[in-house]
Amino acid sequence: MSPTPFSSSPSVALNTGLQMPLLGLGTYKLCGLQDVYRAVDAALSAGYRAFDSAAVYRNEAELGKALRELLPKYGLTREDVFITSKLGPKDQGEKAMEGALHSLSQLDLDYIDLYLIHWPGTQGLPVADERNPGNRAQSWASLEELHCQGRLRNIGVSNYTPAHMRALMQSCKVPPAILQVEFHPRLCQPELMSLCKEYGVCFQAYSSLGKGELLSDPVILDVAKNCKRTPAQVLLRWALQQGVPVLPKSSNPERIQRNAEVFDFTLSDTDMDRLSALDSGQRFCWDPSEVA
Ligand SMILES: NC(=O)c1ccc[n+]([C@@H]2O[C@H](COP(=O)([O-])OP(=O)(O)OC[C@H]3O[C@@H](n4cnc5c(N)ncnc54)[C@H](OP(=O)(O)O)[C@@H]3O)[C@@H](O)[C@H]2O)c1
Repeated sequence: MSPTPFSSSPSVALNTGLQMPLLGLGTYKLCGLQDVYRAVDAALSAGYRAFDSAAVYRNEAELGKALRELLPKYGLTREDVFITSKLGPKDQGEKAMEGALHSLSQLDLDYIDLYLIHWPGTQGLPVADERNPGNRAQSWASLEELHCQGRLRNIGVSNYTPAHMRALMQSCKVPPAILQVEFHPRLCQPELMSLCKEYGVCFQAYSSLGKGELLSDPVILDVAKNCKRTPAQVLLRWALQQGVPVLPKSSNPERIQRNAEVFDFTLSDTDMDRLSALDSGQRFCWDPSEVA
Protein backbone atom coordinates (compact mmCIF):
# COMPACT_ATOMS: atom_id res chain seq x y z
CA MET A 1 0.00 0.00 0.00
CA SER A 2 1.50 3.29 -1.06
CA PRO A 3 0.57 6.67 0.40
CA THR A 4 2.26 8.27 -2.65
CA PRO A 5 0.12 10.89 -4.39
CA PHE A 6 -1.26 9.99 -7.82
CA SER A 7 1.26 11.28 -10.36
CA SER A 8 -0.91 13.16 -12.86
CA SER A 9 -3.86 13.94 -10.63
CA PRO A 10 -4.14 16.20 -7.55
CA SER A 11 -5.22 14.14 -4.58
CA VAL A 12 -6.34 14.33 -0.98
CA ALA A 13 -5.07 12.32 2.01
CA LEU A 14 -7.80 10.19 3.62
CA ASN A 15 -7.90 9.26 7.32
CA THR A 16 -6.35 5.87 6.44
CA GLY A 17 -3.20 7.70 5.29
CA LEU A 18 -3.95 6.74 1.68
CA GLN A 19 -4.46 9.24 -1.14
CA MET A 20 -7.55 9.70 -3.31
CA PRO A 21 -7.61 11.75 -6.55
CA LEU A 22 -9.75 14.89 -6.27
CA LEU A 23 -11.25 14.20 -9.72
CA GLY A 24 -12.93 10.93 -10.62
CA LEU A 25 -15.12 9.77 -13.47
CA GLY A 26 -18.73 9.09 -12.48
CA THR A 27 -20.05 5.98 -14.21
CA TYR A 28 -23.77 5.91 -13.39
CA LYS A 29 -25.63 5.09 -16.63
CA LEU A 30 -22.44 4.06 -18.43
CA CYS A 31 -23.59 0.67 -19.65
CA GLY A 32 -22.11 -2.01 -21.88
CA LEU A 33 -18.45 -2.66 -22.60
CA GLN A 34 -18.26 -0.32 -25.61
CA ASP A 35 -19.56 2.76 -23.73
CA VAL A 36 -17.51 2.04 -20.62
CA TYR A 37 -14.38 1.36 -22.66
CA ARG A 38 -14.72 4.60 -24.63
CA ALA A 39 -15.31 6.70 -21.50
CA VAL A 40 -12.45 5.08 -19.55
CA ASP A 41 -10.10 5.53 -22.52
CA ALA A 42 -10.98 9.25 -22.76
CA ALA A 43 -10.70 9.66 -18.98
CA LEU A 44 -7.27 8.02 -18.66
CA SER A 45 -6.06 10.11 -21.59
CA ALA A 46 -7.35 13.29 -19.88
CA GLY A 47 -5.58 12.42 -16.61
CA TYR A 48 -8.43 10.97 -14.52
CA ARG A 49 -7.09 8.39 -12.10
CA ALA A 50 -10.31 7.59 -10.18
CA PHE A 51 -13.49 5.79 -11.26
CA ASP A 52 -16.75 5.63 -9.32
CA SER A 53 -18.89 2.54 -9.85
CA ALA A 54 -21.51 0.68 -7.78
CA ALA A 55 -23.16 -2.72 -7.71
CA VAL A 56 -26.44 -1.10 -8.78
CA TYR A 57 -24.84 0.53 -11.84
CA ARG A 58 -24.33 -2.96 -13.28
CA ASN A 59 -21.03 -1.93 -14.87
CA GLU A 60 -18.43 -3.25 -12.40
CA ALA A 61 -17.38 -6.09 -14.72
CA GLU A 62 -17.09 -3.74 -17.72
CA LEU A 63 -15.12 -1.18 -15.71
CA GLY A 64 -12.68 -3.83 -14.45
CA LYS A 65 -12.18 -5.22 -17.95
CA ALA A 66 -11.77 -1.78 -19.56
CA LEU A 67 -9.15 -0.78 -17.00
CA ARG A 68 -7.21 -4.03 -17.35
CA GLU A 69 -7.05 -3.55 -21.11
CA LEU A 70 -6.45 0.21 -21.16
CA LEU A 71 -3.96 0.81 -18.31
CA PRO A 72 -0.96 -0.53 -20.31
CA LYS A 73 -1.83 1.82 -23.20
CA TYR A 74 -1.06 4.73 -20.84
CA GLY A 75 1.94 3.07 -19.14
CA LEU A 76 -0.12 2.65 -15.97
CA THR A 77 -0.67 -0.19 -13.53
CA ARG A 78 -3.43 -1.10 -11.07
CA GLU A 79 -1.69 0.92 -8.34
CA ASP A 80 -2.00 4.09 -10.45
CA VAL A 81 -5.80 4.16 -10.32
CA PHE A 82 -8.34 4.49 -7.52
CA ILE A 83 -11.46 2.39 -7.94
CA THR A 84 -14.64 2.94 -5.95
CA SER A 85 -17.67 0.70 -5.77
CA LYS A 86 -20.68 0.48 -3.50
CA LEU A 87 -22.79 -2.07 -1.67
CA GLY A 88 -26.27 -2.26 -3.20
CA PRO A 89 -29.28 -1.58 -0.91
CA LYS A 90 -30.50 -5.14 -1.61
CA ASP A 91 -27.39 -6.50 0.16
CA GLN A 92 -27.66 -4.25 3.21
CA GLY A 93 -27.42 -6.30 6.45
CA GLU A 94 -26.69 -10.00 6.53
CA LYS A 95 -25.85 -10.19 2.80
CA ALA A 96 -23.24 -7.41 2.97
CA MET A 97 -20.19 -9.66 3.01
CA GLU A 98 -21.51 -11.57 0.00
CA GLY A 99 -22.33 -8.29 -1.78
CA ALA A 100 -18.85 -6.83 -1.28
CA LEU A 101 -17.17 -10.07 -2.36
CA HIS A 102 -19.39 -10.05 -5.44
CA SER A 103 -18.16 -6.52 -6.30
CA LEU A 104 -14.55 -7.71 -5.95
CA SER A 105 -15.24 -10.63 -8.23
CA GLN A 106 -17.17 -8.57 -10.81
CA LEU A 107 -14.35 -6.03 -10.96
CA ASP A 108 -11.91 -8.97 -10.91
CA LEU A 109 -9.66 -7.20 -8.42
CA ASP A 110 -7.63 -8.31 -5.41
CA TYR A 111 -8.64 -5.11 -3.65
CA ILE A 112 -11.01 -2.16 -4.11
CA ASP A 113 -9.63 1.27 -3.18
CA LEU A 114 -12.90 2.54 -1.69
CA TYR A 115 -16.10 0.66 -0.90
CA LEU A 116 -19.19 2.54 0.29
CA ILE A 117 -22.54 1.63 1.79
CA HIS A 118 -24.55 3.16 -1.06
CA TRP A 119 -27.70 4.05 0.83
CA PRO A 120 -28.70 4.06 4.53
CA GLY A 121 -31.84 2.04 3.87
CA THR A 122 -32.46 -1.56 2.90
CA GLN A 123 -34.18 -2.50 -0.33
CA GLY A 124 -37.61 -3.97 0.38
CA LEU A 125 -38.02 -2.29 3.80
CA PRO A 126 -40.06 0.90 4.33
CA VAL A 127 -37.78 3.90 4.90
CA ALA A 128 -39.02 4.31 8.49
CA ASP A 129 -38.53 0.62 9.34
CA GLU A 130 -36.63 0.25 12.61
CA ARG A 131 -34.60 -2.63 11.18
CA ASN A 132 -32.66 -0.16 8.98
CA PRO A 133 -30.15 0.94 11.67
CA GLY A 134 -29.33 -2.67 12.59
CA ASN A 135 -28.85 -3.60 8.95
CA ARG A 136 -26.50 -0.65 8.41
CA ALA A 137 -24.46 -1.64 11.46
CA GLN A 138 -24.21 -5.22 10.17
CA SER A 139 -23.07 -3.99 6.74
CA TRP A 140 -20.47 -1.77 8.37
CA ALA A 141 -19.08 -4.70 10.41
CA SER A 142 -18.65 -6.70 7.18
CA LEU A 143 -16.89 -3.80 5.48
CA GLU A 144 -14.62 -3.41 8.53
CA GLU A 145 -13.71 -7.10 8.31
CA LEU A 146 -12.80 -6.86 4.61
CA HIS A 147 -10.90 -3.64 5.30
CA CYS A 148 -8.83 -5.42 7.97
CA GLN A 149 -8.08 -8.18 5.43
CA GLY A 150 -6.81 -5.52 2.98
CA ARG A 151 -9.48 -6.24 0.38
CA LEU A 152 -11.22 -2.87 0.83
CA ARG A 153 -8.45 -0.33 1.33
CA ASN A 154 -10.82 2.45 2.39
CA ILE A 155 -14.42 2.08 3.51
CA GLY A 156 -17.10 4.72 3.71
CA VAL A 157 -20.73 5.64 3.35
CA SER A 158 -22.99 7.50 0.96
CA ASN A 159 -26.26 9.38 1.39
CA TYR A 160 -25.98 9.34 5.19
CA THR A 161 -27.69 12.17 7.08
CA PRO A 162 -26.10 13.84 10.13
CA ALA A 163 -28.04 11.44 12.38
CA HIS A 164 -26.80 8.37 10.47
CA MET A 165 -23.22 9.72 10.64
CA ARG A 166 -23.37 10.37 14.40
CA ALA A 167 -24.66 6.85 15.07
CA LEU A 168 -21.95 5.31 12.90
CA MET A 169 -19.17 7.34 14.53
CA GLN A 170 -20.35 6.21 17.98
CA SER A 171 -20.40 2.50 17.16
CA CYS A 172 -17.67 1.89 14.55
CA LYS A 173 -14.29 0.24 15.08
CA VAL A 174 -12.96 1.68 11.81
CA PRO A 175 -14.21 5.20 11.07
CA PRO A 176 -15.48 5.93 7.55
CA ALA A 177 -12.88 7.48 5.24
CA ILE A 178 -15.51 9.12 3.02
CA LEU A 179 -19.05 10.44 3.01
CA GLN A 180 -20.26 10.72 -0.61
CA VAL A 181 -23.37 12.90 -1.02
CA GLU A 182 -25.16 15.12 -3.52
CA PHE A 183 -23.43 18.52 -3.47
CA HIS A 184 -23.71 21.54 -5.80
CA PRO A 185 -24.59 25.24 -5.45
CA ARG A 186 -28.29 24.47 -4.95
CA LEU A 187 -27.52 21.90 -2.21
CA CYS A 188 -24.59 23.12 -0.10
CA GLN A 189 -25.04 20.66 2.81
CA PRO A 190 -23.36 22.88 5.49
CA GLU A 191 -24.26 20.62 8.44
CA LEU A 192 -22.84 17.48 6.82
CA MET A 193 -19.73 19.33 5.69
CA SER A 194 -18.91 20.61 9.15
CA LEU A 195 -19.68 17.23 10.73
CA CYS A 196 -17.23 15.57 8.33
CA LYS A 197 -14.60 18.12 9.21
CA GLU A 198 -15.13 17.48 12.92
CA TYR A 199 -14.90 13.68 12.43
CA GLY A 200 -11.96 13.74 9.98
CA VAL A 201 -14.10 12.17 7.25
CA CYS A 202 -13.55 13.30 3.64
CA PHE A 203 -16.71 14.88 2.21
CA GLN A 204 -17.10 13.91 -1.50
CA ALA A 205 -19.57 15.36 -4.02
CA TYR A 206 -21.80 13.54 -6.47
CA SER A 207 -24.12 15.05 -9.11
CA SER A 208 -21.98 18.22 -9.18
CA LEU A 209 -23.63 19.17 -12.47
CA GLY A 210 -27.13 18.52 -11.10
CA LYS A 211 -27.33 15.61 -13.57
CA GLY A 212 -26.73 18.20 -16.32
CA GLU A 213 -29.64 20.42 -15.25
CA LEU A 214 -27.47 23.07 -13.56
CA LEU A 215 -25.62 23.72 -16.81
CA SER A 216 -28.37 26.11 -17.96
CA ASP A 217 -28.73 28.02 -14.66
CA PRO A 218 -28.44 31.76 -15.49
CA VAL A 219 -26.04 32.56 -12.62
CA ILE A 220 -23.77 29.65 -13.50
CA LEU A 221 -23.85 30.67 -17.18
CA ASP A 222 -22.95 34.23 -16.22
CA VAL A 223 -20.00 33.21 -14.03
CA ALA A 224 -18.81 30.85 -16.80
CA LYS A 225 -19.02 33.61 -19.40
CA ASN A 226 -17.09 36.07 -17.20
CA CYS A 227 -14.25 33.63 -16.50
CA LYS A 228 -14.26 32.14 -20.01
CA ARG A 229 -14.89 28.60 -18.77
CA THR A 230 -17.66 26.07 -19.37
CA PRO A 231 -20.56 25.90 -16.88
CA ALA A 232 -19.45 22.35 -15.97
CA GLN A 233 -15.91 23.54 -15.18
CA VAL A 234 -17.33 26.32 -12.98
CA LEU A 235 -19.48 23.86 -11.02
CA LEU A 236 -16.58 21.45 -10.51
CA ARG A 237 -14.20 24.25 -9.55
CA TRP A 238 -16.71 25.60 -7.01
CA ALA A 239 -16.56 22.25 -5.19
CA LEU A 240 -12.80 21.73 -5.57
CA GLN A 241 -12.08 25.21 -4.23
CA GLN A 242 -13.84 24.15 -1.01
CA GLY A 243 -11.60 21.06 -0.86
CA VAL A 244 -14.40 18.75 -2.03
CA PRO A 245 -13.50 15.89 -4.44
CA VAL A 246 -15.81 15.54 -7.49
CA LEU A 247 -17.07 12.78 -9.79
CA PRO A 248 -18.49 14.28 -13.01
CA LYS A 249 -20.08 11.72 -15.30
CA SER A 250 -19.97 11.93 -19.06
CA SER A 251 -20.09 9.42 -21.86
CA ASN A 252 -18.74 12.00 -24.31
CA PRO A 253 -14.92 11.97 -24.78
CA GLU A 254 -14.72 15.70 -25.49
CA ARG A 255 -16.74 16.58 -22.36
CA ILE A 256 -14.70 14.13 -20.29
CA GLN A 257 -11.57 16.01 -21.39
CA ARG A 258 -13.05 19.47 -20.76
CA ASN A 259 -14.42 18.44 -17.35
CA ALA A 260 -10.86 17.60 -16.28
CA GLU A 261 -9.56 21.11 -17.02
CA VAL A 262 -10.39 22.40 -13.56
CA PHE A 263 -7.02 22.76 -11.86
CA ASP A 264 -5.67 25.73 -13.84
CA PHE A 265 -8.02 28.52 -12.79
CA THR A 266 -9.52 30.04 -9.66
CA LEU A 267 -12.98 31.45 -9.02
CA SER A 268 -12.98 34.83 -7.27
CA ASP A 269 -14.48 35.11 -3.76
CA THR A 270 -17.34 37.07 -5.32
CA ASP A 271 -18.10 34.28 -7.81
CA MET A 272 -17.83 31.63 -5.08
CA ASP A 273 -20.32 33.62 -2.96
CA ARG A 274 -22.70 34.14 -5.93
CA LEU A 275 -22.75 30.39 -6.55
CA SER A 276 -23.16 29.43 -2.88
CA ALA A 277 -26.06 31.88 -2.61
CA LEU A 278 -28.02 29.58 -4.97
CA ASP A 279 -28.49 27.08 -2.10
CA SER A 280 -32.17 26.18 -1.98
CA GLY A 281 -31.94 22.62 -0.72
CA GLN A 282 -32.88 21.30 -4.18
CA ARG A 283 -32.01 17.67 -4.90
CA PHE A 284 -31.69 16.02 -8.30
CA CYS A 285 -31.16 12.63 -6.69
CA TRP A 286 -32.61 10.56 -3.84
CA ASP A 287 -33.39 12.08 -0.41
CA PRO A 288 -32.30 10.02 2.63
CA SER A 289 -33.82 12.29 5.30
CA GLU A 290 -36.69 9.90 6.15
CA VAL A 291 -34.56 6.75 6.44
CA ALA A 292 -34.66 5.48 10.07
N1 LIG B 1 -23.69 7.68 -4.18
C1 LIG B 1 -24.78 7.96 -4.86
O1 LIG B 1 -25.92 7.70 -4.41
C2 LIG B 1 -24.66 8.63 -6.19
C3 LIG B 1 -25.79 9.22 -6.76
C4 LIG B 1 -25.64 9.87 -7.99
C5 LIG B 1 -24.40 9.91 -8.59
N2 LIG B 1 -23.32 9.30 -8.04
C6 LIG B 1 -22.00 9.27 -8.71
O2 LIG B 1 -21.67 10.59 -9.14
C7 LIG B 1 -21.54 10.58 -10.56
C8 LIG B 1 -21.97 11.92 -11.16
O3 LIG B 1 -23.31 12.21 -10.87
P1 LIG B 1 -24.48 12.10 -11.96
O4 LIG B 1 -24.15 11.02 -12.94
O5 LIG B 1 -25.74 11.98 -11.19
O6 LIG B 1 -24.56 13.47 -12.69
P2 LIG B 1 -23.60 14.71 -13.07
O7 LIG B 1 -22.19 14.34 -13.13
O8 LIG B 1 -24.05 15.83 -12.21
O9 LIG B 1 -24.15 15.02 -14.56
C9 LIG B 1 -24.04 14.07 -15.58
C10 LIG B 1 -24.87 14.57 -16.76
O10 LIG B 1 -24.31 15.78 -17.27
C11 LIG B 1 -23.96 15.61 -18.64
N3 LIG B 1 -22.66 16.28 -18.83
C12 LIG B 1 -21.48 15.95 -18.25
N4 LIG B 1 -20.52 16.84 -18.58
C13 LIG B 1 -21.10 17.73 -19.41
C14 LIG B 1 -20.62 18.87 -20.09
N5 LIG B 1 -19.35 19.25 -19.99
N6 LIG B 1 -21.50 19.58 -20.87
C15 LIG B 1 -22.79 19.19 -20.97
N7 LIG B 1 -23.31 18.11 -20.35
C16 LIG B 1 -22.47 17.38 -19.57
C17 LIG B 1 -23.88 14.12 -18.88
O11 LIG B 1 -24.26 13.79 -20.20
P3 LIG B 1 -23.27 13.01 -21.22
O12 LIG B 1 -22.95 11.69 -20.59
O13 LIG B 1 -24.10 12.89 -22.44
O14 LIG B 1 -22.07 13.90 -21.39
C18 LIG B 1 -24.92 13.59 -17.89
O15 LIG B 1 -26.21 13.65 -18.44
C19 LIG B 1 -22.37 9.39 -11.00
O16 LIG B 1 -22.09 9.00 -12.35
C20 LIG B 1 -22.01 8.40 -9.94
O17 LIG B 1 -20.72 7.84 -10.21
C21 LIG B 1 -23.43 8.69 -6.82
